[in-house]
Amino acid sequence: MSSPPNESLSFDDFDEEINPRPTETDFDRIVEAAVNRRGFLGGALAFGSFAMLGGTLVPSGVQAASNRFAFAQIPANTEDAVTVPEGYKADILVRWGDPLWSNAPEFDHASRGTADSQALAFGDNIDGMEVYAIGDKMVLVANNEYTNRKIIWGNREEGKAAEADDFNKGKMAHGVSVVEIAPTENGWAIVKDSPLNRRITPDTEIELTGPAAGHALLKTAADPTGTKTLGTWNNCGNGSTPWGTYLACEENFNGYFSAADEEHKVSPELDRYSVSSKDWGYGWANVDERFDVSKHPNEPNRAGYVVEIDPTDPNSTPKKRTALGRFKHENAEVVINNDGRVVVYMGDDERGEFLYRFVSDGVFATGGDTSSLLDEGTLSVAKFYDNGTGEWLELTPETTGMASKAEICIHSRQAGSAVGATTMDRPEWVTSNPNIAEVYCALTNNKNRGLKPNKGGDETPVGGPNPREANNYGQIVRWRPADGDHTAKDFTWDLFVLAGNPAVHQDANKGSDNVNADNMFNSPDGLKFDSNGLLWIQTDGNYSNAEGFAGHGNNQMLAGDPVTGEIRRFLVGPKECEVTGMTWSPDRKTMFVGIQHPGERGDSHWPEGGNAVPRSAVIAITRTDGGVMG
Ligand code: FEO
Ligand code: CA
Ligand code: CA
Repeated sequence: MSSPPNESLSFDDFDEEINPRPTETDFDRIVEAAVNRRGFLGGALAFGSFAMLGGTLVPSGVQAASNRFAFAQIPANTEDAVTVPEGYKADILVRWGDPLWSNAPEFDHASRGTADSQALAFGDNIDGMEVYAIGDKMVLVANNEYTNRKIIWGNREEGKAAEADDFNKGKMAHGVSVVEIAPTENGWAIVKDSPLNRRITPDTEIELTGPAAGHALLKTAADPTGTKTLGTWNNCGNGSTPWGTYLACEENFNGYFSAADEEHKVSPELDRYSVSSKDWGYGWANVDERFDVSKHPNEPNRAGYVVEIDPTDPNSTPKKRTALGRFKHENAEVVINNDGRVVVYMGDDERGEFLYRFVSDGVFATGGDTSSLLDEGTLSVAKFYDNGTGEWLELTPETTGMASKAEICIHSRQAGSAVGATTMDRPEWVTSNPNIAEVYCALTNNKNRGLKPNKGGDETPVGGPNPREANNYGQIVRWRPADGDHTAKDFTWDLFVLAGNPAVHQDANKGSDNVNADNMFNSPDGLKFDSNGLLWIQTDGNYSNAEGFAGHGNNQMLAGDPVTGEIRRFLVGPKECEVTGMTWSPDRKTMFVGIQHPGERGDSHWPEGGNAVPRSAVIAITRTDGGVMG
């Protein structure tokens, strides 16, 4: 997410108001560090032929001919439209506010709906998604991460909520939408009234499972057992299991809590997660007291997890899998290791936070019992060394000095700090290469790199996979587990790409050698391999198209070849959007992509045009020759 809650203030900046960065920055030092890095950034070295130079490698042979791309790269642009290459087309599948049942009204552009209509309609700001084949039906499960106040309340003066129903409408636009989809004569469409359709909202009953379930820190007045909670919100990226369940990942859960008494001071444990007496403008405490942290201080401990959802049963109770840790989860990349254990890679998207790995105790077998695979296992954090090696540090009571596994699962950030995990440039999506034991993570940007510690006071030194001070552009790190074993302690790593602007910069901000004036971008975020091993990259960055971002255009989607390092732009989104979330139809002939927050600053009418309210939507991309999409 990148939308500002207040005018031009980003969500993260809002959190930083209570934790300001130093006012003095050493500009000379920044430039010197950047220039010094040119030498090795320019020295492209292949992953396989590993000659280490300061730990940062970029792929060689990027000028080599590549036959992995079926499309011709498109130029950057600033149109209020989705642009795809010749030979492809992009259609709308479903938009924010489209009713999932025929007893709900169509989206009303004047009012932007009500709490009641929204509860029966597709949620807002689409992010992670997956399509499941269930019998002869297909079901789309998609996260609805958050809402833009000025859009959803755009019918009110200055985009401010005017009555309780406005707050509730916002609440009902969050969560997860489950909807049957089908190909029709006019392309893909949702199936209204399908028995599989479901809205999961911040009010849906959810079970807390795993080591933290029942812990005192999870008990509230409404739930003295600490095992039953209500709802999920700010679901960013996702994961999917081989046993057919969907993983919705709770990211900026903190921004929904507030205190009637603004002087209320939260505990240091909540402060580590940027929970404070002020919310990000959603105002849920006005209509639901559990979001008042002064009255219910344990309520925020019940959010920040990975939620497992069974899309085959609309009556099933989703489960928050506390064994996967509590932090600002981006996505959850599930890999079945050679020995059958389930490995889940996860980023914590905040400046200077960590990269995590969960390894299950049990093994996955097709048709076997999967009910506790994500409840019992070991959580670790990544430590990267400058020499291109790294290791996973286990989070246990012994290594962290914390009282119990339950506490580690609730205060995972504190556990990571205790063992000295590497502070990262905002770890976003993680994805694993289907052709080789190799895993990629988008490190979207970090303006605090080298300048300010993280919320826990851990230093954020320049180096390793985070090589640029005040990192504006982001990079993609990748690692290979020792011996191809995803449960191994050790790994080697390099950088697949350093984003940048070679048309503007000559220093490290020009990016790595596989970035040029024709394919440049900033802030990689969504990341997913297709079944053929092409890496799809989505951006959530600066779309000003000015100064250091001149030539980047709107947010976009690119594809990268993990072998040659070549990167080509495939799609450009409409104005002020973020491109995020992707999945494929079972026959791989359609790629579904999420367009989030078009017009977040007021300058888009996508997709309907004219004076229409801009609406987040899932688009369906196909080849005009009917070929596969990856
Ligand atoms: Fe919701 Fe880290 O993006
Ligand atoms: Ca992002
Ligand atoms: Ca994201």
